[in-house]
Amino acid sequence: MLNKKVSDLLNQQINKELYSAYLYLDMNNYFQSRGLNGFANWYMIQAQEERDHAMLFYQYMQNNDCTVTLDAIAKPDKTFTSDMEVLKEGLAHEEYVTSLINDIYAAAYEVKDFRTMQFLDWFIKEQGEEETNARDMITKMELFGNDPKSLYMLNQELAGRTYSAPSLVLD
Ligand code: FEO
Repeated sequence: MLNKKVSDLLNQQINKELYSAYLYLDMNNYFQSRGLNGFANWYMIQAQEERDHAMLFYQYMQNNDCTVTLDAIAKPDKTFTSDMEVLKEGLAHEEYVTSLINDIYAAAYEVKDFRTMQFLDWFIKEQGEEETNARDMITKMELFGNDPKSLYMLNQELAGRTYSAPSLVLD
């Protein structure tokens, strides 16, 4: 059995990842209404990845004989007023998720739960990539977002993002 604090945090992370999916769906919704379907595509794939993350925590708990409790998912309550605001919210959210993953890792470390630490290694790396992606989006928007032709090209580039299943597979 996993330590209670560790399993509580893992359980909470299922909800946080599902909320992340909700938040990115909301961002998809914003960009659809702006007519920027490439940006919308990018956030739709992001939402799918968050659902995958939630399922990895879900499965890890089940694999370790922990009972999962499914809580209500919070409503994304931001009203976005600019494209850049969405992008910056995305980065801030990923930094927050990184802090949550670090908290679980710290709890596992405290009780020498090496199995959970090893499981979380994938998420530590993933969070680094997610933050980099979010920062790249902001940089590109700062460079090209004010010119309609460049924004069109950027939108085309983001339309090319395709989904791939997570590289972490649990038995
Ligand atoms: Fe599941 Fe974007 O962190």
